[in-house]
Amino acid sequence: MDAKVRELLNQQINKEFYSAYLYLEFSNYFKAANLDGFANWYMIQAQEERDHAMLFYQYLQNNNETVTLEAIDKPVAEITCHMDVLKAGLKHEIYVTSLINDIYAAAYEVKDFRAMQFLDWFVKEQGEEETNANDLIAKMELFGSDPKSLYMLNQELGTRVYTAPSLVL
Ligand code: FEO
Repeated sequence: MDAKVRELLNQQINKEFYSAYLYLEFSNYFKAANLDGFANWYMIQAQEERDHAMLFYQYLQNNNETVTLEAIDKPVAEITCHMDVLKAGLKHEIYVTSLINDIYAAAYEVKDFRAMQFLDWFVKEQGEEETNANDLIAKMELFGSDPKSLYMLNQELGTRVYTAPSLVL
């Protein structure tokens, strides 16, 4: 495997675990605010991020590459209200999309078609993640200021259930 592609894939393990950590922090915030539905939504998001990390981990191992695990940063987000969390989530997903694109570009450059095929799933996934984050912001803008509506939205988010990733390595 090309050294740069390997390096970026390895770094992505850390970025995805950081994402899981960030969403755990968001879940923690909403738990403290007694919005258990929101807390559930972000807890499941955290589980998905852990899955993403493990897919990169597994992909490297499956290709006989050594994985190097690095320290995970403390999650950073300036939160003064519920909406700040939702917006930080969207901002983070846009950043992760740029990381996936960078790995894809590196793989493309060296004609690593296997890596590109692996990354195709993440390209699609990032589109969905950004859409989900945008939808959540739109709902919050519409309903967040009314306590009864916020209660209903919280109920709705509480119904989200975890599903394992469709990509199996
Ligand atoms: Fe692993 Fe939310 O992207």
